[in-house]
Amino acid sequence: MPGHVIITGASVGIGAALARSLARAGYSVGLVARRQELLEALTADLTRGGAKAAWAVADVSDEGSMRAAFTALEEALGPCEVMIANAGILSFQRPETFDAEVAVNILRVNVEGAINAAGVALPGMVARGRGQLVVISSSAALRALPGWHAYAASKSAVSSFFRSLAFDLADKGVSVLVVQPGFVATDMTANNRFPMPGTMQASDLAEGIVARVQSGRGGVMTTPWFMGLALGLSRLIPGFLFDRAARWFLRLGETR
Ligand SMILES: NC(=O)c1ccc[n+]([C@@H]2O[C@H](COP(=O)([O-])OP(=O)(O)OC[C@H]3O[C@@H](n4cnc5c(N)ncnc54)[C@H](OP(=O)(O)O)[C@@H]3O)[C@@H](O)[C@H]2O)c1
Repeated sequence: MPGHVIITGASVGIGAALARSLARAGYSVGLVARRQELLEALTADLTRGGAKAAWAVADVSDEGSMRAAFTALEEALGPCEVMIANAGILSFQRPETFDAEVAVNILRVNVEGAINAAGVALPGMVARGRGQLVVISSSAALRALPGWHAYAASKSAVSSFFRSLAFDLADKGVSVLVVQPGFVATDMTANNRFPMPGTMQASDLAEGIVARVQSGRGGVMTTPWFMGLALGLSRLIPGFLFDRAARWFLRLGETR
């Protein structure tokens, strides 16, 4: 019998798509984000469809807020079997308008937020000897990228953090899955003006992640596969050539 899954960043985008796929697969879903009205509407929709669902408002970058949401959702839906740290933000920054506060906030939400989500769920999972941690990183974890300084750094950090954590949890019955998607059509990418090869629909990505969660297998899931291959192979070419190609690629957007 599928258990209780908590998803951060569940109000829209990939998180909301995950909630719908997991509910269809029979999981109880606990939804976390800041926008209460969106969480309420999604919960009502899932409940109407026969699923067990509950919501709690939290800012993932605030540990106390994340802990309170976690406690409320466990009270409503039972022990958290799967924690999906999905909440994230992105902003593209040019050197002329670089703002350190914006960059640091991206790290707070994307890195501290994911660590806070794992941190509140882990003690219970380890005590029960069972559980799954899933983090939605990005294929931006694989390369430094122009304009995405803080985002690329945040995703490298979460991929590395959760992959390292996987070593320690291997004999505790807790699996760790690091998802590194390429481009996904959501609010986050809606304003991108450069080409986004292999763009996925959030619902398709969610179905793939849910299948992997059902299998219970951890590891790293980079999707679509050619994005992982291209970025992996790009490490073999000299850095200055990659940098030139990446700048050219992004400049294409300025002419669109
Ligand atoms: N879209 C892509 O191409 C893509 C590719 C690779 C990886 N990803 C990653 O996938 C994840 C989801 O992205 P998305 O495309 O679905 O983005 P999105 O549509 O912008 O949704 C982001 C979600 O995160 C929540 N969120 C943001 N800041 C938060 C905070 N401080 N506390 C709690 N919740 C917060 C938002 O809800 P509220 O505003 O209601 O709080 C929203 O539910 C992110 O980690 C992103 O980096 C996205």
